[in-house]
Amino acid sequence: MYWTSLFRAAYRRLVTSTELAPSRPSRPPRKPRVPRTTLGRLWSSTVGKKAVLAVTGGAMLLFVVAHMLSNLKAFVSPESLDGYALWLRTLLSGALGHEGLLWIARTGLLVCVVLHGTAAVQLARRARGARGQRYRVRSKVQGSYAARTMRWGGVILVLFIAYHILDLTTGHLNPHGVSGEVYRNVVADFQLWPVTALYTLAVLALGLHIRHGVWSALHSLGAATASRQRAIRLSAIAVATAITVGYLSVPFAVQTGLLR
Ligand code: HEM
Repeated sequence: MYWTSLFRAAYRRLVTSTELAPSRPSRPPRKPRVPRTTLGRLWSSTVGKKAVLAVTGGAMLLFVVAHMLSNLKAFVSPESLDGYALWLRTLLSGALGHEGLLWIARTGLLVCVVLHGTAAVQLARRARGARGQRYRVRSKVQGSYAARTMRWGGVILVLFIAYHILDLTTGHLNPHGVSGEVYRNVVADFQLWPVTALYTLAVLALGLHIRHGVWSALHSLGAATASRQRAIRLSAIAVATAITVGYLSVPFAVQTGLLR
């Protein structure tokens, strides 16, 4: 008897606390704000963010290629590299002042880095939101090694660029660190194997990032038809390899004594 009344009381408490309890009136879901400008609408759409990723990535790729080619001037002569750096600082200085054009390019690059990073993070969040929850077990089919390491590659590159500017632009972290003596600063750096190792890691991260970035941008921009898949994959590998080898040639030439 005792057990029956105890069971009934527990059952009543359970029912009244869940099913029969008056539920709190829930707030109506907030309507998502629709941006008024075309640019705003483009930015809030997934396609628009992918286009921003592709265009800013393309602009940064142009810089990366130009920078890699200018580094190869170290193989011509020390004066060639130093002269190039001076030329960059004085280009259009009559109209824009000393380093004027360089500052415009630096600002453009910074805008690209910020837009690229923001679009990438927001797209990743959106994709995770659409899946509802994180995958418990990630299958290998979900993308190549490069695709899965894009996020970490991006973080490594941002940290590297901060170090690199303090090393070779301002000279604060450079073992030689004399303004205008670009060749000597570069050689002083890469005579130290830990510095070469650090640059190698960053350049490899850049290579992987570019390989997947080029592949992905061509897909986002609609250039990747089924018949072009193989050509696109090979082009992405070729561009990434050329850039990686081009950048690594300078530190390894110093390490092996070819540049001194
Ligand atoms: C072994 C590889 C590299 C070498 C030898 C190298 C060399 C240099 C040198 C000498 C400068 C200073 C130029 C000057 O003062 O006029 C510089 C600046 C710079 N480098 Fe590199 N670099 C390398 C890799 C990279 C990579 C991988 C990136 C980016 C992904 C990069 C991005 C930059 C940027 C953003 C600046 C600052 C430009 C400025 O504001 O003046 N570099 N680099």
